[in-house]
Amino acid sequence: VGSDDPNELVSGKGIAYLRENGVEVETQMLKAECDALNDIFFHYITSKTPYVMMKYAMTLDGKIATVTGKSKWITGEHSRQRVQESRNKYMGIMAGINTVLADDPQLTCRIEGGRNPVRIICDTNCRIPLESNIVRTAENVRTILAVRNDIKEKSLQNKLKTLKTSGVELLEVETKDGHIDLANLLHHLGEMGIDSVLVEGGGTLNDSLLKTGLVNELNVYIAPKLFGGESAKTPVEGSGVKEVDDAHRFKLYSTEIIDEDILLVYKRQKGCE
Ligand SMILES: NC(=O)c1ccc[n+]([C@@H]2O[C@H](COP(=O)([O-])OP(=O)(O)OC[C@H]3O[C@@H](n4cnc5c(N)ncnc54)[C@H](OP(=O)(O)O)[C@@H]3O)[C@@H](O)[C@H]2O)c1
Repeated sequence: VGSDDPNELVSGKGIAYLRENGVEVETQMLKAECDALNDIFFHYITSKTPYVMMKYAMTLDGKIATVTGKSKWITGEHSRQRVQESRNKYMGIMAGINTVLADDPQLTCRIEGGRNPVRIICDTNCRIPLESNIVRTAENVRTILAVRNDIKEKSLQNKLKTLKTSGVELLEVETKDGHIDLANLLHHLGEMGIDSVLVEGGGTLNDSLLKTGLVNELNVYIAPKLFGGESAKTPVEGSGVKEVDDAHRFKLYSTEIIDEDILLVYKRQKGCE
């Protein structure tokens, strides 16, 4: 047996039954590897919040866009295909409103027969354009717009109504430091049955999410290119941490070469956040 069942109500009962009936049972065989196969389930069942995987593609000089905000495409075709597989695997996909404004993405899964993740946009002040790809496709692809829970302005209230009739689900969330409180948002998403979220940034949202300590995994794609430019965006923006000891820490889980790119997977270690 590799993994223990995280459900305390049943954990160990099967093993005890087998042993009582004369079956020799060895436990914790390749435990880490077995647990890793069930990352999402184990996390969700014990925490009731989604397993959060943050993905970004960057250049060798750590940029996720050029100085003019262009990010198509940093990595090669096969890396991008891999991201599509992640979109198929995770139940939700999250982005900050600036990414929507800059790239007008669809955030759908383009694998044939694949499943679209639920799109979750963090948009405190409801800045999303009604003509954006996200809103235009909301009738067909489940879309949750997380906005602040104290919107009183008449024009914004009207916009919220229009968004609703366009198929957008509105999630009114408490704010923290003037933005959506992400810990609270994840709690709400967990209650809605969303067990896993793929975060596709950008850097401002990534910084806030890392600060919640609720990021479980990083998938970092590195392309053999350099963009330069002082103002070109990096994977983690915001205010960052002030001291080296305050760094967010993850443990290297795997490395893979995908054509000319490198994929590094890191996982959060308990006590490492
Ligand atoms: N290469 C890649 O992998 C990749 C992936 C994604 C994006 N990008 C690039 O990243 C750039 C956009 O990144 P960005 O850093 O400017 O913006 P961003 O992270 O996409 O969005 C930031 C915005 O999200 C809203 N937000 C809501 N709640 C928040 C919270 N708790 N913490 C932080 N933000 C919150 C804020 O506006 P409000 O408070 O007004 O809502 C904030 O200004 C684009 O150029 C895009 O192309 C690259």
